[in-house]
Amino acid sequence: MTPTPELKSTRPGAPDSADQAYTDFTRSLSYGDYLQLDVLRSAHQPVTQAHDEHLFIAIHHVSEVWLDLIVRELSAAMSLLERGITDAPLKMLSRVVRAEEQMTNAWDVLKTMTPTDYLEFRSAFGQASGFQSERYRMMEFMLGNRNEVMLRPHAHREDLHGPLKAAMEAPSIYDLTLCLLAGAGFDLPAEVLERDYSQPYTSHPAVKAAWMEVYRDTGRHWELYELAEKLLDVEDQFRRWRFNHLTTVERVIGFKRGSGGTSGAGYLKKALDIVLFPELWEVRTEL
Ligand code: HEM
Repeated sequence: MTPTPELKSTRPGAPDSADQAYTDFTRSLSYGDYLQLDVLRSAHQPVTQAHDEHLFIAIHHVSEVWLDLIVRELSAAMSLLERGITDAPLKMLSRVVRAEEQMTNAWDVLKTMTPTDYLEFRSAFGQASGFQSERYRMMEFMLGNRNEVMLRPHAHREDLHGPLKAAMEAPSIYDLTLCLLAGAGFDLPAEVLERDYSQPYTSHPAVKAAWMEVYRDTGRHWELYELAEKLLDVEDQFRRWRFNHLTTVERVIGFKRGSGGTSGAGYLKKALDIVLFPELWEVRTEL
């Protein structure tokens, strides 16, 4: 005999109905308490009546939350790499790539705002610009894009300026990776391993030669190869964010100057030429 399938009841009180959920939070931590949603929502403070200002603020907030997560993941990955551990950082870097992807996708939502919509509130935020984003600079410094000028907007806030300056003067994730290359027996000169970290990294023939060997014998150097490809994923996705930012900026403000004082689209276009991990791109040509 075929067993009768169990009938699911929809009557209130059944195990899968909503009224089984906990509803009394007078003495225990609720969702909103745990996530401090009052605090989060209180940060949403438009300064005009413009409908699109809500979108503008929300996208910036969401991006800042992702940037904060990216910085945490990079920081954890870097302290493991510093200790010679390469497996767990791979997972963290995968998460960084996914978070970057979310930030990149945010442009699709922001693009629904036209120049006319934007002009309704543009004058209200004066000289404020993403250029002054501390989390973004922290991420860039960790990835190796170093420039002392980027510290200046934070000079009035020692709590932000201090850690940013420290990150700018410490090895980047690529510098740590190059130490691992040297540790694996590749001959890298002192000018690479003991360089002035506050300066941007520039390509070096010895590093390129080392990566060539890794890519020519991936089986033998699997850990370094996997790490290199993961770093490339991070840079690849970051480039997409930069490109979509530029395109959105051109759509919304054309070639007007930026609120932060730069030439605007021209400045952002130049940033597309930045290369974080040069030899990882260069080896491709010669393989
Ligand atoms: C309509 C929307 C936006 C416009 C018109 C815009 C425009 C600009 C412009 C012109 C710059 C160059 C610096 C300046 O002079 O201000 C800039 C930089 C920047 N923006 Fe945006 N932006 C928009 C949205 C966003 C969003 C949603 C984010 C997310 C966090 C963001 C993050 C940044 C960052 C991090 C920089 C610095 C880039 C660098 O120095 O390489 N922007 N933006």
